[in-house]
Amino acid sequence: MKVGGVSWRTVELGRDGRLVLIDQKQIPFAFATVETVDWRDTARCIVDMTVRGAGAIGATGAAGVAQAAITAPDEGFFAAVDVAVAGLRATRPTAQNLFAGIERVRRAMDGASSPAEARERAFFEARAVADDDASACKAIGEHGRALIRDGMRISTHCNAGWLAFVDWGSALSPIYAAHRDGLRLHVWVDETRPRQQGARLTAWELGQEGVPHAIVTDGVIGSIMKRGEVDLVIVGSDRIAANGDVANKVGTYALAVLAKHHGVPFYVAAPSATIDWACPNGDAIPIEERSTDEVHLVHGPDAQGALHTVRVTAPGAGARNPAFDVTPAALITGIITERGVFAPGGLQPRL
Ligand code: MRU
Repeated sequence: MKVGGVSWRTVELGRDGRLVLIDQKQIPFAFATVETVDWRDTARCIVDMTVRGAGAIGATGAAGVAQAAITAPDEGFFAAVDVAVAGLRATRPTAQNLFAGIERVRRAMDGASSPAEARERAFFEARAVADDDASACKAIGEHGRALIRDGMRISTHCNAGWLAFVDWGSALSPIYAAHRDGLRLHVWVDETRPRQQGARLTAWELGQEGVPHAIVTDGVIGSIMKRGEVDLVIVGSDRIAANGDVANKVGTYALAVLAKHHGVPFYVAAPSATIDWACPNGDAIPIEERSTDEVHLVHGPDAQGALHTVRVTAPGAGARNPAFDVTPAALITGIITERGVFAPGGLQPRL
């Protein structure tokens, strides 16, 4: 990814355990980074969504375990690391990449002959989790690019671009690949209430990449499809069950139903770290329930640029805020992974 012409990664772990994250809470109004050294601060960055998006929190969770190893004393080393593993696992419940990243780094330390060796292994594995995320997303772009034709109008939901991963993105990676090949595209960006990841993050990313796009409020895309102005839908995923059911940002299910009704191909793009082979179907995917403040309050700058939080709902009104929903495999045309494009029922674990 390039921001203002400078190369960035969403998650960057240094040899000394210093972790640099892009502060997504400030985008699109400012571009800033946050640094952590202590895994507890890293966990807080996941909880408060300084860093969000399945691949990005997977790499951040992995880095958090490495930070715990780097700072843990020799005495009681593994007990200290396991406290961090439990704390990082408890940050967010839905994205499978988080658990996969944490588990990879913890497992890499098994059998180490000393805390010093375990620290080395943890650092290199955390870096590998981030590198694998970036290379899987690049490959998703290459496979997904084959689905895109010149002039296509593509709809997406939430943010599944490079901010949500270490680099490239999942749903946006094929779009970036096609755009770089010179294809003329237009992207319909769902606003994605309540956190507005589409309006704030996806629109900002597409702007950085020079991809033509328009933000639409979440209820609008059905009428745009009815007019025949959507050729393809590509969304990301936070967890894919073994039968091909897909959890993604709330609102995805409605988009999939609309796509089916209007005969528009509906693709899900995700690295295989998002697939939970132990999860038989979408009913077993834990869905995060977030604070209803996200429904009641919005944040943004006034005309002078000062940031404010304002209430936009009736005082005293109740709300519900499930952060994700599940799209059944039957509504999905194909799943784009780093290994190719599969029918939702055709995914196979790598042996
Ligand atoms: O709650 P978030 O912002 O962490 O949501 C995760 C997501 O980014 C989306 O659900 C996305 O569409 C797929 S994962 C990058």
